[in-house]
Amino acid sequence: MFIDSHAHLFFKDFAADLPDVIKRAQDAGVEAIVCPGTDLETSRKAIALAEEYEMVYACVGFHPHDASKGDAPSLKAIERLSEHPKVVAIGEIGLDYHYNLSPPERQKEVFGEQIRIAQRRSLPIVIHSREAEGDTMRIVEEALAASPGWRPAGAPRGVFHCFPGDAALANRVIGWNFCISIPGPVTFGSKPGRLNQMAEVVKKTSFDHMLIETDSPYLTPAPHRGKRNEPAYVRLIAGVIAGLKGCTIEEVGASTTSAARALFGLP
Ligand code: NI
Repeated sequence: MFIDSHAHLFFKDFAADLPDVIKRAQDAGVEAIVCPGTDLETSRKAIALAEEYEMVYACVGFHPHDASKGDAPSLKAIERLSEHPKVVAIGEIGLDYHYNLSPPERQKEVFGEQIRIAQRRSLPIVIHSREAEGDTMRIVEEALAASPGWRPAGAPRGVFHCFPGDAALANRVIGWNFCISIPGPVTFGSKPGRLNQMAEVVKKTSFDHMLIETDSPYLTPAPHRGKRNEPAYVRLIAGVIAGLKGCTIEEVGASTTSAARALFGLP
């Protein structure tokens, strides 16, 4: 019924009770969880979890925070890992100028190099962009110009996880056949008359390129804000989206699940 398109199940937050977390997700109607790595070590852990749990799929890549670790041998290792049958995307990759934990110039180089890995491997990309939308869009546009046909005909090319922009930007990336993914903050402050930006994006964007995600263990939706997030809570996000769109939660589940399947090529 639901796919959590982004959850970091390898972090120590889940070390004590991951089997229970997976069980609660299944009980909440979650049928698949996509687990993006953030560096070489966590990409390997994501694959190990995908081997252990049938419903878990992995992505491999260097998060912009960890871009300074993405030297040539490490990127070669990421490319080799991407050949694993349960790796469904390169990610999460991108730019984060909020913290600048890696130098911006290095972030841009490693982002570009990882897009080229995805293009060689015909895989979609999972993009993280924070306070860096101008450079992110430019790098993605250049990659599209360099290799427009890297995905099978009609298949989405990637997803902007925790979609960072407004409705105009959402429509621009959807025009490039990218998806946007809606996380827990859509549940914050979405009362009539005071919609947050993410809720506005949901209202003004068509369903066909929209995914839902928890970004566990971060970005916990209401009413659990402040506690650890987990994939079962993707249902709370779907419920708020249903309210914004004036449809049922089942319809949100069906449309976001089919968009996630098309993007990641899930069975
Ligand atoms: Ni993430």
